[in-house]
Amino acid sequence: MSLTAASRGIAGDSLEAASTGLKPGWGVRPERQQAILAAICDLAPGTGRLSAGQLRAVTTTLAGRRDLWADLVVRDPDVRWYLPLHRSSSCDVWLLAWERGQDTDWHDHGGSSGSFAVAEGGLIEQYRVPSGRLSRRRLAEGHAVAFGPGHVHDVAHGADGSATSIHAYSPPLVAMTYYTATDYGLIARETVAIDGPEGARGRGGADTALARATASAARLSSDSLPSGAPGIDELLAEARSGLQRLRPETAFAALTDGAVLVDIRPLEQRIVEGEVPGALIISRNVLEWRLDPASEARIPALARADMRVIVMCSQGYASTLAAASLRRIGLREATDLEGGFQAWQAAGLPTRPAQSLG
Ligand SMILES: [Fe+2]
Repeated sequence: MSLTAASRGIAGDSLEAASTGLKPGWGVRPERQQAILAAICDLAPGTGRLSAGQLRAVTTTLAGRRDLWADLVVRDPDVRWYLPLHRSSSCDVWLLAWERGQDTDWHDHGGSSGSFAVAEGGLIEQYRVPSGRLSRRRLAEGHAVAFGPGHVHDVAHGADGSATSIHAYSPPLVAMTYYTATDYGLIARETVAIDGPEGARGRGGADTALARATASAARLSSDSLPSGAPGIDELLAEARSGLQRLRPETAFAALTDGAVLVDIRPLEQRIVEGEVPGALIISRNVLEWRLDPASEARIPALARADMRVIVMCSQGYASTLAAASLRRIGLREATDLEGGFQAWQAAGLPTRPAQSLG
């Protein structure tokens, strides 16, 4: 489910950004920003990390102040809508609108604590309790939850009509990790930089957290890299220039002719994606030690110069670098699976669910 920010076109407004925490283009007029700040300034110090309890005080207070947000809400049946209300170095506060069928997917908050309060309608929160078990609660208008940095949840619209909620995070959100619910529990899937709450994915732009993080990373890179250092794209191209990579169907044929498929994906990824029957699972972090013909930790049947090893990862990127590394230590026939497990599966070749350790 995607999420979009409102842009209300307040060009020409002159904001006192430092005092309000927001900047031009964020969609809330200066006088309203001042009113919001006045409502929460005693609850949320402008610096330092706020506790979950302090964040709850912020969200419940603002949820009860319809005069500060009711006229700002936009109802969109297609995308989950949000609007930033406040931002300081200690926390950010957001207004969200929910329609039937809209939810966030499982995610954490990148180390931030948080709180949200239901201002209108109802929401349903599924969440992971400390034991790892999943639980669920229905939150009606006026209810709020607060959580620490380890909280993982999936929030969804949960009543007949539209819903509105107020969310606050400390420190301000900069990244979130998404999870896939499996029979093994929640498995981390990807971490994304964000500039909005509860599921906004990489929507950058001027004056957003994402834009600042990107600019900061660019400065760091240009300042700290030695001149002439190759980027990952160059490294990958160089590795591929020395490989005869195999498409899934060709790899499948090679397996019947003495080649071995080596799966270097981590367990979490195999659980989410599945496995190839008969593939050898060798962790990337021990791959060279298992296959180097001169290594004491080698697997003798595999660690041979003429062994036709086909390395497989998820999409065929890490496998290229691994195969090139194997070639450098003497496995002259080593190569990798183009497109990785995902291409193998898309080609209709045999797969199975990840095998239980127990
Ligand atoms: Fe969340």
